[in-house]
Amino acid sequence: MNPLSVIRVGICGLGTVGQGVWKHLERIRPELESRLGVKLELTRASVRDLKKRRDVKVPASKLTTDSLSIAMDPNVDIVCELIGGTTLARQVTLAALTAGKVVVSANKALISKHGAEIFEAARRHGGHFLFEASVAGGIPIIKALREGLVANRFPLIYGILNGTCNYILTQMEEQDAPYTAVLGEAKRLGYAEADEALDVQGWDTAHKAAVLTFLAHGTWVKPEQMIVEGIDRITPIDFKNASALGYGIKLLAVIARDFDTDELSVRVHPTLLPESHVVAKVSGVFNAVSVRGDVAGTTLYIGRGAGQDATASAVISDLVDAISLLKNDRRAFITARKASAPARPVRACRLAPSEHIRGRYYLRMTVSDEPGVLAQIAAAMAAKNVSIASVIQSAQEPAGAASLVLTTHQSDERAIQATLSRLARLRCVLERPLLLRIGDFAD
Ligand code: NAP
Ligand code: HSE
Repeated sequence: MNPLSVIRVGICGLGTVGQGVWKHLERIRPELESRLGVKLELTRASVRDLKKRRDVKVPASKLTTDSLSIAMDPNVDIVCELIGGTTLARQVTLAALTAGKVVVSANKALISKHGAEIFEAARRHGGHFLFEASVAGGIPIIKALREGLVANRFPLIYGILNGTCNYILTQMEEQDAPYTAVLGEAKRLGYAEADEALDVQGWDTAHKAAVLTFLAHGTWVKPEQMIVEGIDRITPIDFKNASALGYGIKLLAVIARDFDTDELSVRVHPTLLPESHVVAKVSGVFNAVSVRGDVAGTTLYIGRGAGQDATASAVISDLVDAISLLKNDRRAFITARKASAPARPVRACRLAPSEHIRGRYYLRMTVSDEPGVLAQIAAAMAAKNVSIASVIQSAQEPAGAASLVLTTHQSDERAIQATLSRLARLRCVLERPLLLRIGDFAD
């Protein structure tokens, strides 16, 4: 650290999150400086387009298009990577860590894809990588898992991890609003990723699930190894059907480990939750994370999961940790972090095979409205040993078609996927059935 106790921060990316960090850091700088006993300097920032109009005033002399120059600048102590994506963001992160700097990141896609390399680079070069903003926006879930709940093992973590999807689902359910209009609004509000397919197809939730899995179980699970299904095939009719059955629909990440067998399953899918369940009542951009610990029991975290201010709050919390790290007792801070990081799990776990992932299911399909159809469908399900719990049939456009909604008793992923393939081959099934899981969470 320089002798004047000035901490110099470089911000790579001045979009939704970067501008939020700049705005709030400028606002609370006097208070932070007094609390931390340092001078805080927003030294440089990088953008793609120098001419773009921004909501924060940044002197032209501090702006560059060269993010790597900030990462390697000896006059920058802390680098905030708020660019997004996995190419330039990775280069910036590795360059800054290699230079021994602290990197603060909100980039779950990057961590999910390159986390192992990034943590290794931090370890090897004495840099540090902090990532509170990468999961669940303003909720301090990383701190909760890593520090507050350090005494626990985690048999079950589940919740809503994507603000955009929860906003869309809520608007569809409550306002009967069309999907594309609500997605446009989520983008305008700064909730969505630059590539919104990451949100609606479930990949952003999978990236966050990978980060939580690493923290809870010390292992990296790639999104391609998870069940990942998004919300883009859900229609207003599904909310009506779910409601008739007593459920709401939420996009959930589920991270479940059986500590007897050490089998782990990580999955992301729209889920029917009983309307009375507290997570089913979490609406709009809010996220909810339920964490079952074997010592503490279940704790639940609810807060804004996306957007400028909530995310800036999480980034600034990491910045304060980074400043403490640089200013105070570097060794004590590192020791504390190491003690709570799950870099080397004591007990390895492996991914559960699909036949061990059990649950109940909701199936919606459009079928031809003619005699014998129900019998064919029941036979296809019975052939895979999937037992039907309830049936709702209603007339549907075009004439001669019907909408059929089935729920099942307990089955498993292998059986239900085999059933889906069988159903899709029936001539009376007019389009690919929609499969939703039913969430049976006791707490
Ligand atoms: P954004 O609004 O698209 O901002 C990205 C910023 O990076 C922009 O300022 C852009 O410059 C800059 N940039 C892009 N490519 C660049 C390049 N080649 N060189 C220099 N600068 C470049 O994105 P965001 O919503 O702030 O998200 C940033 C990160 O935070 C992502 O990893 C995202 O997943 C994560 N995150 C976002 C939220 C949220 O609610 N938005 C919440 C949690 C985490 P220009 O402005 O000139 O285009
Ligand atoms: N696009 C993300 C979301 C941003 O909607 O949750 C927060 O990570």
